[in-house]
Amino acid sequence: MDTRHSQPVRIALIGSGRIGQVHAANVDRARGAALQVVADPVLPGAQAVTARHGGRAVTDALDAVHADDVDAVVIASPTPTHVDLIGACLDAGRPVLCEKPVDLDITRVDGLRARARTAAVPVALGFNRRFDPHFAELHRRVTAGEVGPLEQLVITSRDPEPAPAEYLRVSGGIFRDMTIHDLDTARWFVPDVVAVTAVGLRQFSDVIAGLDDYDGAVVTLQGAGGESVTIINSRHCAAGYDQRLEATGPSGTLSVGNVTDTLVRSSTAASGDAGPAFQRPFLERYRQAYAAELEAFLDAVRGAPLTCPGFEDGRAALLLADAAETSARDGRTVAVDLSA
Ligand SMILES: NC(=O)c1ccc[n+]([C@@H]2O[C@H](COP(=O)([O-])OP(=O)(O)OC[C@H]3O[C@@H](n4cnc5c(N)ncnc54)[C@H](O)[C@@H]3O)[C@@H](O)[C@H]2O)c1
Repeated sequence: MDTRHSQPVRIALIGSGRIGQVHAANVDRARGAALQVVADPVLPGAQAVTARHGGRAVTDALDAVHADDVDAVVIASPTPTHVDLIGACLDAGRPVLCEKPVDLDITRVDGLRARARTAAVPVALGFNRRFDPHFAELHRRVTAGEVGPLEQLVITSRDPEPAPAEYLRVSGGIFRDMTIHDLDTARWFVPDVVAVTAVGLRQFSDVIAGLDDYDGAVVTLQGAGGESVTIINSRHCAAGYDQRLEATGPSGTLSVGNVTDTLVRSSTAASGDAGPAFQRPFLERYRQAYAAELEAFLDAVRGAPLTCPGFEDGRAALLLADAAETSARDGRTVAVDLSA
């Protein structure tokens, strides 16, 4: 469809929970987009979103996908719904932006792969960190050759505190739930990963250990060109949401530190240059990224090339998460072939 100079892109939003509300606000704010339908089996949740951002509320996601007055779909419902809903969007010829991960089971992802590959409409995956302005600038400068050929990338990603146990129980484990964002960031810089070595950590949470999961992880990826990516994860961090990136090559290092709410620093007899803690909730830290991700998707709906990560990126990140899980459980390096 080409709506570049005409009507707003009319969006159906599926799921009105935490991330659905972020997407609804961004659609509302975006120029040339309108929230048309919000679907959630919990109707009051959908109604609360439409009252704020427009559109009508329905309970059935498929009604939203098939509605005559919808141009594109944003899927923000729980992970087990993603594969079927992406499939429904493809059947209906609707461009779709689906939250990560595609699914927790690679066989279900592979079942949709051929259709997603040949789809006539854009299929975007919500790996929002590629749209963070700080990370994007670092990526641009690495790609421009500022540090020379990339040798080492270090991704630090620590949550302020663990999610509730009921969430963790169905999350798919730290690698598929948390590390998957960092695995996509890794592939943004080093698309062709050939080996994964992971150590799963049990350092502080009996609850997480009781779920046979890890409360932290260190993952090293090797790229086909000899690059290394080291991912450091923890489910807790006293200073807040710790999100950093460091890229090194023969000519130097580029790094992104943590974002804080204010640049005001305090220096006293007791401490120098003290600032506030890192921004805590992920919705706050990546606010700009979610908005930029939606704008990129809207551009693709209007006919521009898709600049968002796509279905294959979602599949690759899940393959790497599976490999990390195997590596941590078996204590060995796992070879991967993302080109297959
Ligand atoms: N990109 C990110 O940073 C990010 C952040 C949070 C969540 N997510 C992903 O987004 C998805 C949703 O996560 P959340 O934290 O918003 O969950 P949530 O539980 O807060 O919200 C999910 C909503 O979907 C609704 N729902 C359930 N089944 C549905 C269906 N069949 N059709 C329509 N709505 C349905 C629920 O009633 C609920 O309102 C997950 O896949 C998660 O991994 C991504």
